[in-house]
Amino acid sequence: MLDKQSAIPIYVQIEDYLKQQIAQDVYPVKSIIPSERELSELFGVSRMTVRQSLTNLVKEGLLYREKGRGTFVAEEKMEQPLNGLTSFTEDMKARGLSPGTKLIGFSQVRPDPQIRARLGLSSEALVHKVVRIRYADNTPMAIERSYLPVDLLPTLSEEALQGSLYAFIEQQEKLVIGQATQRMEAALAKKEDAEYLQIAIPAAVVQIERVSTLEDGRTFEVVRSTYRSDRYKFISEIGR
Ligand code: GLP
Repeated sequence: MLDKQSAIPIYVQIEDYLKQQIAQDVYPVKSIIPSERELSELFGVSRMTVRQSLTNLVKEGLLYREKGRGTFVAEEKMEQPLNGLTSFTEDMKARGLSPGTKLIGFSQVRPDPQIRARLGLSSEALVHKVVRIRYADNTPMAIERSYLPVDLLPTLSEEALQGSLYAFIEQQEKLVIGQATQRMEAALAKKEDAEYLQIAIPAAVVQIERVSTLEDGRTFEVVRSTYRSDRYKFISEIGR
């Protein structure tokens, strides 16, 4: 199974082998894979080597470990399109998943200069600062920190934020959402965020800042979202 003469390191060959087995459904989603000891016997390599392969696959999000139980095959990452201006609730429903929200912060503050500039507000203006953990079928997927002008959304409430913000804006406030600009970057999860997302640090996350405007041109939100990189990949259609 392994080619010990190859220039490809043994631990990479083991990773490739396991990836193939997973792709062929030999180990289906959520099933347990053989233990380190079993794999080291199977391949005739040290447990250290096997551990390195497994750790890499855990970091990639293909496997996950459960303390005292073993290593399991993770669900496929979610493919999040980058083209449409959709809400988290819409994205989850489109996949047949049940969206959930935990509101962990809701206050009215003077925003920092960068957010104020993005929202095009005066120095006196207040914003709603909203921090929400977003879930798919009870699994934490992302943390969203949103800044929304109070003047534009004076009736925004804790209750409304338990559900879809976009539904509140469109159905309750009868405003028309137009377009957004997104900036995306890689980062390491902060300790606090890793706890909310139930991931072990160090962990890579994807940060997306979305600045959205209404059809009439008014900016209604700046959102800084932190996505689990073990649960998400991003997809965009490009042409030429
Ligand atoms: C996505 C976007 C956010 C937006 C949110 C609204 O997650 N990244 O910028 O605020 O959707 O979602 P919902 O309407 O479910 O609250």
